[in-house]
Amino acid sequence: MKQRDLIQLACLVLVVSTTATSAQIIGSAHDFSSEGWAQSQTCLPCHTLHNANAVEINGYSAGRLWNHALPSAGQVYTTYDGNFPRDEALDSYSILCMGCHDGTVALDAFGDGIGSQFMTGDALVGTDLTKQHPVGASAVWPNPEPSYLNARATWENQTFGGSRMGKLRLMVVDGAEESVLSCATCHEPHNRGGYDDLLRIDNTSSQMCLACHNK
Ligand code: HEC
Ligand code: HEC
Ligand code: HEC
Ligand code: HEC
Repeated sequence: MKQRDLIQLACLVLVVSTTATSAQIIGSAHDFSSEGWAQSQTCLPCHTLHNANAVEINGYSAGRLWNHALPSAGQVYTTYDGNFPRDEALDSYSILCMGCHDGTVALDAFGDGIGSQFMTGDALVGTDLTKQHPVGASAVWPNPEPSYLNARATWENQTFGGSRMGKLRLMVVDGAEESVLSCATCHEPHNRGGYDDLLRIDNTSSQMCLACHNK
């Protein structure tokens, strides 16, 4: 190849890779690689390839080669329905999020580290969930389905915006007995949709809300 062709090829690769990274974890709020506490790693604060934590909650494995410490099993959350310990209040996916977002566990508590840096600012959700959209045990998908919600089958099988991750999904707790709304129903931790606030689907004009809420 001539040098000019090589330069053109290099430019093309650059353009392609820039487009591809726009909807990825790199550069998103979940890219911790430039944070002092994250050992210059992106995946490691959440996942590991070796000696992963056995994350078994309510008998359901949310393994995912999880590397981050979780809130203690006795950690109490105030939900819409009152005060409940972790496993009664939340589904297993939300518990993974709360290992950083409730502020009780250090951000750098992963691998062998105990950690000392805690979450602050707007992303701190805390343990009082009464001012949050219901999740976990307070957001069991009603059965039979009420008329004020769109039928689950209509939105759960829909791919919004053509993205593979552009699907809202309920999460399973208690084996497969109940399907509940989780933090991970609305959010995709790897930013694969590329939407604001790590949302799974675009919420312009509240379209994400309207997928479920029949208003
Ligand atoms: C902030 C925490 C966090 C970070 C950082 C993170 N992940 Fe994840 N990852 C999760 C959670 C939570 C799940 C489970 C959510 C789900 O299944 O929808 C998951 C699931 C996965 C899965 C299995 C399910 C799937 O969606 O494919 C893979 C593979 C994965 N992550 C790879 C990675 C890689 C590679 C990186 C680094 C580039 C990374 N993750 C960074 C939180 C994280
Ligand atoms: C390893 C710790 C960790 C875990 C686990 C984690 N997060 Fe985060 N998250 C963070 C940090 C740190 C920030 C950025 C805070 C900041 O910018 O001040 C953040 C930011 C966010 C934001 C704000 C995005 C934005 O664009 O401002 C959302 C939404 C979010 N996380 C959702 C989740 C959800 C949902 C889960 C579980 C599936 C999760 N996180 C798991 C550490 C974590
Ligand atoms: C029903 C959908 C839904 C659920 C469930 C949900 N979120 Fe969100 N979240 C949103 C939307 C929409 C936004 C952006 C607008 C806003 O802040 O209200 C958001 C914003 C956020 C932010 C950014 C806040 C800020 O001001 O920067 C964080 C962090 C976050 N969510 C974490 C979580 C965690 C952790 C859970 C589980 C306890 C959760 N979310 C459950 C829809 C949801
Ligand atoms: C994946 C489906 C889903 C999405 C997306 C969703 N919701 Fe909900 N929402 C629910 C369910 C389920 C409940 C609990 C309803 C019940 O048990 O009657 C609920 C409850 C609520 C409630 C009532 C809380 C109470 O006081 O009881 C409000 C308000 C609400 N959602 C607003 C929103 C908004 C705003 C959005 C968009 C940011 C949104 N929801 C996105 C499923 C969803």
